[in-house]
Amino acid sequence: AIERTFSILKPDATRRNLTGKINAVFEENGLRIVAQKRIHMTETQAKKFYEVHAARPFYGELVSFMTSGPVVVQVLEGENAVAKNRELMGATNPANADAGTIRKMFAESIEANSVHGSDSAENAAIEIAYFFAGSEIVG
Ligand code: CMP
Repeated sequence: AIERTFSILKPDATRRNLTGKINAVFEENGLRIVAQKRIHMTETQAKKFYEVHAARPFYGELVSFMTSGPVVVQVLEGENAVAKNRELMGATNPANADAGTIRKMFAESIEANSVHGSDSAENAAIEIAYFFAGSEIVG
């Protein structure tokens, strides 16, 4: 079914001017960018967004990385968009990512791994609503 997922191009990607290259991977693989904006996340936003990882040892570093520069938040739409985007991103750790995936091609490390994508349709809806008003999503 056609569904939507939430995506972030992380600070390591914007710093290296990779927005267009990563967006091309989405578009060439059937995902439509139906909402997009470049923002500098506040510490409050990053902490809330990654709240599920609050107990993890890397939480503090993750929050400071995600607020270290601009990010591009996006809504991607397409057939099985959640799973499709996860396939295109590859494994969290670029060392384990398959050839041709965004993280294999572009990620610098497990933390600076260029992209975030929702892990379920349910979380996608929550994450989209956190950054976008309904009127900003144009399908
Ligand atoms: P993301 O998909 O945004 O979800 C949680 C993020 O935490 C993940 O991508 C990585 O950027 C980061 N992360 C996951 N595991 C580690 C780790 N072991 N060390 C540092 N950062 C991590």
